[in-house]
Amino acid sequence: MNDLFLRACRRQRVERTPVWMMRQAGRYLPEYRAIRAKADFMTMVKTPELAAEVTIQPVDIIGVDAAIIFSDILVVPDAMGMPLEMVESRGPVFRAPIRSRSDVDALNVADPERALRYVMEAIGVTKRSLAGRVPLIGFAGSPWTLATYMIEGSGSKEFKHVARMMLDEPEVLDLLLDKLATGVRLFLEAQIAAGADAVQIFDTWGGFLTPDHYKRFSLDYIFKIVSNLHRDGAPVIIFSKGANHSLIDIAGVGADVVSVDWTADLAEVRNRIGEKVAIQGNLNPSYLYASPEQIRREVRSILRKFGNGSGHIFNLGHGIFPDVPVEHARALIRAVKEESPAFHG
Ligand code: CP3
Repeated sequence: MNDLFLRACRRQRVERTPVWMMRQAGRYLPEYRAIRAKADFMTMVKTPELAAEVTIQPVDIIGVDAAIIFSDILVVPDAMGMPLEMVESRGPVFRAPIRSRSDVDALNVADPERALRYVMEAIGVTKRSLAGRVPLIGFAGSPWTLATYMIEGSGSKEFKHVARMMLDEPEVLDLLLDKLATGVRLFLEAQIAAGADAVQIFDTWGGFLTPDHYKRFSLDYIFKIVSNLHRDGAPVIIFSKGANHSLIDIAGVGADVVSVDWTADLAEVRNRIGEKVAIQGNLNPSYLYASPEQIRREVRSILRKFGNGSGHIFNLGHGIFPDVPVEHARALIRAVKEESPAFHG
């Protein structure tokens, strides 16, 4: 029973620093690609046995200290009435994006126990196969990050439609964010009830916003989720990429862990918020292209930055890239396991 991850989330004593990687179940693993060759992405997500199998792959193959359920943040809009398509080499696409108040009104707040039943079933199957080997993380997108995909209709560089709506019709955006906050809260509660040991909120595009707009359109809705969440003891992690300007506010919403990207200095982050929350991060995912020797140096440097004692969960500052050699991912995990006991004397 490896509960290092949960103990670190609670800032309890650990013998070494736990480690997992965002997007750890994915294409850099040949074993993932073998399954993906036979089933499309949404079929894998919606088939509990397949989802459970790829969820457990990184535990078996590279030795991470936590599993994260194989799914996607965009299953929530899918359940609200916007069919999600994963288009090869383009990513997620919604054919009918949200552009007006009537589009928002037409969305249902999904009843996750019905519309997202397959996620809870995947969690059940995964928990049974893991049999306590490592904890299982559930997750959802932040309302803001989900809204960017729903309004743009796909991934975006310019955020043209969402910027227009935010500034010209903020009341429409607020209606959408409010619906999403309720849906996301219910979904996280359902995942915890199904057996998720912790939950992470992915706010991948929080860093698009100015600090004031970040608080107004992203963090306030994350606060709405966290402050109303029946978490049953499960730690809550917030990952707002590119929002290091608001660390103190993020640490104040009531989550247990704040996940930071590689532009933050972990010593500084610990100084500012380490009394309040555990800290997750923050290796630059591109550094995994370097040799295992250099990866180990970078691991040491991050462990030194955080310093002695508990309250650190080692992770990347964002998801692992699909063409990183598996050997390098394994080298990262091995380096954290071998180098970190010295920091927990
Ligand atoms: O972390 C894990 O291993 C669990 C599974 C997981 C996936 N997506 C699987 C996935 C998680 C936690 C996510 C979160 C997610 N999805 C985010 C937030 C985190 C981040 O990376 O920023 C976002 C923004 C999405 C939306 C999304 N899903 C995009 C933009 C894409 C296309 C780009 C890409 O990486 O392929 C996806 C597809 C996706 N989600 C894949 C996987 C394994 C690749 C699908 C494939 O096999 O073709």
